[in-house]
Amino acid sequence: SSKVEGSKAPLFDKLPKKVQDKGVIKVGTDAAYKPMEYKIGNEIVGLDPDLADAMSKELGVRFEFTNGTFDSLITSLQTGRFDMIMSSMTDTKDRQEGLDDQGKKVGKGVDFVDYLTAGSSILVKKGNPEKIESVEQLCGKKVATQRGTTSHEILKKQTDKCKKDRKRPITVEPFDNDDEARVRLKAGGVVADISDFPVAANAAKEGRDFEVVGEQMESAPYGMAVSKGNDKLSGALKEALSAIIENGAYEKALKKWGVE
Ligand code: ARG
Repeated sequence: SSKVEGSKAPLFDKLPKKVQDKGVIKVGTDAAYKPMEYKIGNEIVGLDPDLADAMSKELGVRFEFTNGTFDSLITSLQTGRFDMIMSSMTDTKDRQEGLDDQGKKVGKGVDFVDYLTAGSSILVKKGNPEKIESVEQLCGKKVATQRGTTSHEILKKQTDKCKKDRKRPITVEPFDNDDEARVRLKAGGVVADISDFPVAANAAKEGRDFEVVGEQMESAPYGMAVSKGNDKLSGALKEALSAIIENGAYEKALKKWGVE
């Protein structure tokens, strides 16, 4: 059986018994974040799936990615729909502690295994018609972003600053996924879309519609998230990550997807 095969893998013994028995780790992701995770037909591909694939060789179990809405991934993890989240998710204190954006406790929180670093960027239409170079310049304008992300937080904070500076607030239009936000930008309904740099850079590189302006904001680690206290799984993931960094598979995957 696959269990016997998997059990020969170097880190199989480190996994929780439940995962060993199933032979699979279920992963929740929002697969509309190219090149990190996106869909080709029904298949979820990208840097995160490739890193998981490399780790799977060390762990001797499969990673099975399932598509979901980013803003509900943590809830789904906690109700047991997934064993982990791998979705370019930034490791934040609020998520660790299960707090909402008002600092109110809404869940028991998650544990992260950090694996990459990225910040948010401003994507605008090619030629930068509004001459935007920073979030401060977005006061009084309509801006798209993905709901429940760190980019969404940046926009909410900036909106407060606009008011303090006696400028008009930003009209933030949150979308369930970043593809929708970009469609809105292309249609001219908003002047910018705020998303993570690797995704914005990819969108700019791929067609003739967009460009990235300004500096990357609030760079921070991405983490694979597991339920709080699931130390066995996070420990195994951490060791698998070290192993693929060591053997070069990590670097190879980053190069393949053009992410530094
Ligand atoms: N890094 C940002 C965050 O954690 C955005 C992640 C969005 N990920 C995605 N697959 N759509 O809030």
